[in-house]
Parts: sequence; C-alpha cells; structure tokens
Amino acid sequence: MSAKHATTSTPILPTLTERWSPRAFDTDHALPENALLSAFEAARWSPSASNTQPWRFIVARRGSESFAKIEATLAGFNSQWAGAASALVVNLAVVENDNGEPQRWAEYDLGQAVAHLSVQAHSEGLYVHQMGGFDAAKISESFALSDKLRPVSVMTIGKLGLPEQLAEPLKEREIAPRSRMVVHDLIVVND
Ligand SMILES: Cc1cc2nc3c(=O)[nH]c(=O)nc-3n(C[C@H](O)[C@H](O)[C@H](O)COP(=O)(O)O)c2cc1C
Repeated sequence: MSAKHATTSTPILPTLTERWSPRAFDTDHALPENALLSAFEAARWSPSASNTQPWRFIVARRGSESFAKIEATLAGFNSQWAGAASALVVNLAVVENDNGEPQRWAEYDLGQAVAHLSVQAHSEGLYVHQMGGFDAAKISESFALSDKLRPVSVMTIGKLGLPEQLAEPLKEREIAPRSRMVVHDLIVVND
C-alpha cells in the first residue's frame, strides 16, 4: 500500500482510500478524452439544491492559450508545480439564477460536484489537485466572465509524476503520509 493511501478506522471504498492530491504530474501525459468526459459526467450527476446544477467549468489542456491564462493567475506557491498537469480547470459557481436572485447553495453544490469529479477521475487513473491559491478577479477578467459566474477554485487534472520532479519542500510533502482528524472529533452530536 502506498504511503499516500488513507489509513482508515473502518474500510471505505478503495477509490476514496487511494485518492490524494499530488503536485508532481507527468509532463508527457495528454488527457484521454473519454476519461475526462467521465469525470465531468460524474460532476453532472451530483446532487444540488432544487437541482439547480450551479456548476460550470473552464477546461484548459496543457499547451492551450486558456491553460497559459489560468496558470498566470496562480499564487506563487501553486505556479511552481501546477503547470506540469495535463489540464487546468476553473471551477465556477453560478451564484445568481436567471431572475437575478442569489443561489445560496451554489458554492456548496459546486464543491460537491468537484468531489464527485475527483473520485471518478481517480477511478479513471487520473489525479486531481484543487487549489484556492489563485486570483479570481484575474480569471474573471481574462475570460470575460459574467458576474453570475464566481471562480471558486482551480484544479489540476493529470497523471501522477515522480516526487523527484519537485524541489524541496514540495518533494518532502509529496511523500509524507496523509493525516486527518479522528472521526470521533467530526461528530458534534451522536445520539
Ligand atoms: C478548496 C481547496 C483549496 C485548496 N488550495 C490549495 C492550494 O492553493 N494549493 C495546494 O497545493 N493545495 C491546495 N488544496 C489541497 C489541500 O491542501 C489537500 O486537499 C489537503 O491537504 C488534503 O490532502 P489530500 O487531498 O491529499 O488528502 C486545496 C484543497 C481544497 C479542497
């Protein structure tokens, strides 16, 4: 078992145990279109408030103009590694409906769609790494997005690379075991 696999207190689905967020990606890898489509299909079928489906995505394959635009918005720390991925994706929440009313659960629903996507991607042999470290205003400007679309996160999708590709301290983090709070501490009331 890889050091990156979750050590669970009780068995969970193998894809969930094995999923993690790498920073080393294979720079020669191009995304198989069917795997990418499956990942977005999983996002499509996630639940949302009143089935509003308030998630949209900008998908940019490495080498494209859009990829360069997204990469230019990444925080310094993320720009050190994310450019190696096969794709950069901007995760957008539709924060207003067609009547101009706020969609209160849009970011919640988007996060859930991204979670489903990342699990499906993992089962297709791909790795996803979400990032909050990016300039959302710059994304909106670069892609001339309407105010209804809020860039919430950016994610990399690609094939796992080697820790040796990374400089320290990223290399050390890449091989460090993953950790979590104990499940008991997550449950506020358990009647
Ligand atoms: C909303 C969100 C924002 C994140 N932002 C960053 C980021 O800017 N840079 C980064 O390297 N990782 C980022 N991460 C990845 C987390 O650090 C990572 O998921 C967490 O440490 C757990 O590791 P695991 O996904 O390997 O289990 C982010 C994850 C999420 C969900």
